[in-house]
Amino acid sequence: MKILVTGGTGYIGSHTVVELLTEGHEVTILDNLSNSDERVVDRIEAITKVRPGFVNGDIRDKETLDRIFTDTAYDAVIHFAGLKAVGESVQKPLMYYENNIAGTLNLLKSMGENGCKNIIFSSSATVYGTPAFVPITEECPKGTCTNPYGWTKSMIEQIMTDLYISDNEWNVVLLRYFNPIGAHESGTIGENPNGIPNNLMPYVTQVAVGRLKELGVFGNDYNTHDGTGVRDYIHVVDLAIGHVKALSKLQAGSGLSIYNLGTGQGYSVLDIVKNFEEATGVKIPYVIKPRRPGDIDECYADPSKAEKELGWKAERGIREMCADSWRWQKNNPNGYDD
Ligand code: NAD
Ligand code: UFG
Repeated sequence: MKILVTGGTGYIGSHTVVELLTEGHEVTILDNLSNSDERVVDRIEAITKVRPGFVNGDIRDKETLDRIFTDTAYDAVIHFAGLKAVGESVQKPLMYYENNIAGTLNLLKSMGENGCKNIIFSSSATVYGTPAFVPITEECPKGTCTNPYGWTKSMIEQIMTDLYISDNEWNVVLLRYFNPIGAHESGTIGENPNGIPNNLMPYVTQVAVGRLKELGVFGNDYNTHDGTGVRDYIHVVDLAIGHVKALSKLQAGSGLSIYNLGTGQGYSVLDIVKNFEEATGVKIPYVIKPRRPGDIDECYADPSKAEKELGWKAERGIREMCADSWRWQKNNPNGYDD
């Protein structure tokens, strides 16, 4: 299939492009490089021996989108482009609503006008808010998000649902990711956050590589087995493969569908520290800090719907996730500048 991947030089996008090219799809990336690096395209080519198309452009620019869709008849779009820093979204809500929502509206309009009505969207477990129950199934009600970033995901899901209701020619797959970590086994592409990382695994790897002194563990009085927050960490390559499987669903004319992409297994912050140390032999010093506002006790998926309907199941375990995150960080202590 001919696939347009928005946000394809980013963390999850780049891994997905690798899996798409490996499966023989034709891929064009559209990315404005606001949170990624064009050198990712070279690395993807080095891994797959195929160079994806690349357009340096913005989803908020309707002319660029129209040109892309008139130049090539894409079979589907995988839509990763968006801003994702939770804290920044609280400081700059309009920037988030503008980029994520206005950008997505533009994309959907251009797709519809040009006859491409198949889309896979990067949603998040954040739409469940404080989950009504765990493990979380897709039937779990959506909740109150604690930040504008989360609301953009929740609202875009609604926009795509309403679009499908208005016109059944659309095929929409909403993928709710749990916590992606890890990196391609080559150690040549991976997560490359700007500034001090907000998320656990990049913080851990930057402590391991000596860029940061120690990990702050946000709270040890949660209602979990050791008091630290529990999440469903999923290897980014498993997540990427989930998108390839979802494409077959789109191709079959699936209408609107929603899937959790997680492993079904929860690990606490201290479980991650322990597994990282065991997988890599590198010690992670840590201190207990107060809870981070907005965090919840535990969040993990029931991924059985994706297994049943997409034939997809996460295969990579927590040690492999830690080892692969570390290989990427160790080989590229300063990200793509190395
Ligand atoms: P990322 O920041 O690495 O990738 C996003 C990419 O989108 C970047 O390359 C960025 O340059 C690009 N981009 C942003 N705004 C754009 C615009 N207006 N036009 C064109 N390109 C634009 O993030 P990621 O971790 O790869 O996440 C990909 C998607 O998955 C995002 O939508 C994110 O919200 C979602 N998601 C991520 C996580 C996670 O923990 N990483 C969890 C759930 C959902
Ligand atoms: N944590 C620490 N110290 C840190 C960073 C995180 O103890 O330095 C803890 C958190 O308190 C939490 C766990 O590690 O218990 C995971 O935190 P992350 O920030 O890595 O991930 P979150 O589950 O908070 O959020 C992530 C993404 C969101 C997304 C959400 C659900 O950042 O964008 O998963 O998909 F919405």
